[in-house]
Amino acid sequence: MNDLAGKHIVLGLTGGIACYKAAELCRALVKEGATVQVVMTEAAAQFITPVTMQALSNRPVYGSQWDAREPNNMAHINLSRDADAILIAPCSADFLSKLLHGGADDLLSLMCLARPIDTVPLLVAPAMNREMWAHPATQRNLAQLRADGTTILGVGNGDQACGETGDGRMLEPQELLEDVIAFFQPKLLAGQQVLVTAGPTFEAIDPVRGITNHSSGKMGFAVARAAQEAGAQVTLVAGPVSLPTPRGVRRIDVQSATDMLAACVDAAPTATIFVACAAVADWRPAQASEQKIKKDGSGQTPTLTFLENPDILATLAQSPRARDGSLFCVGFAAESHDLLAHATDKRIRKSVPLLVGNIGPATFGKDDNALLLIDAHGTLELPHNTKLTLGRQLIAEIAKRLP
Ligand code: C5P
Repeated sequence: MNDLAGKHIVLGLTGGIACYKAAELCRALVKEGATVQVVMTEAAAQFITPVTMQALSNRPVYGSQWDAREPNNMAHINLSRDADAILIAPCSADFLSKLLHGGADDLLSLMCLARPIDTVPLLVAPAMNREMWAHPATQRNLAQLRADGTTILGVGNGDQACGETGDGRMLEPQELLEDVIAFFQPKLLAGQQVLVTAGPTFEAIDPVRGITNHSSGKMGFAVARAAQEAGAQVTLVAGPVSLPTPRGVRRIDVQSATDMLAACVDAAPTATIFVACAAVADWRPAQASEQKIKKDGSGQTPTLTFLENPDILATLAQSPRARDGSLFCVGFAAESHDLLAHATDKRIRKSVPLLVGNIGPATFGKDDNALLLIDAHGTLELPHNTKLTLGRQLIAEIAKRLP
């Protein structure tokens, strides 16, 4: 992926043991297509060398406002003017306080103060001991920095280098990378509450067996991530899949179609968009055996009888909020052939404004897909691409169609 192609990021490091993670973050930003200019405080250089950061960013590192390499000797101006964002990771408690007060006695703080505030956003990834993090002074500084327009990327929880456990660890490089990518996505769904179903369902036959299908959940997870990146609050109701939860998404794990329906009915009253990506089993065994069904050696096979599962999409699409336009419902159709005809028919049958068709066997488990969008006005092809890119394109199409 090249989600940061064309972006120029000034990566600022301040003093803290989390500097060791900044090396990997720098590499991840570069791998995602960004150009990275590293600026380090004197304290940061106690934890990791500028040599390491230069090698990873492929650019000389800046540390001093007196750096004679700049012809006009104004590194603080030159470095900030062409940045798409300044990211301070790790950002120490001391540096937070400096940012808050507009301190400017070293290159990095000077540069943050001198940046064009409307065009060069400032993102900070705090890193500190849990007591420092919880201290009213730090929390006060964070609140004021937010009010000043700074994006605070949050902290992790867990073991700290000092031996204590709690909040204040710097987020992991991969988490920060996802947050930076999300930051640059257009906020097309700001204020929306999105409910997404994903993955297969598992319909128990007995305590050890069940009926499921090949859905990997990847498309639904990509849609959930794209919605979150677009500024929505997202609830993801996931069948049994082993995928990591997209950052900032509330995930509810379920097994059966009945569980999935209950979770969706629960979340639907506050949702404004429902995207049904899950491959819900059409039928479930009428009676799941409480004990494992044993073969007795006689050659006789058990007989299973089935009940039809509730249609989650149709249920939500028939709710009063969907009918009056407060809940925009999107269905998926995984077909093996005649995609257009089946998907057109399905859109009308499920009475949803938008239906997304894809060829199931071609996409199950894969990282890419191709989509065919069908609404009352016609069709739109979203050609072959990664599921995340398609998820973002789908979110943009949904945003266009909102009442
Ligand atoms: O009827 P079919 O399974 O082909 O419809 C697919 C669409 O309906 C998908 O959006 C799927 O998530 C949804 N669906 C559902 N509950 C079911 C069956 C399908 O929400 N029981």
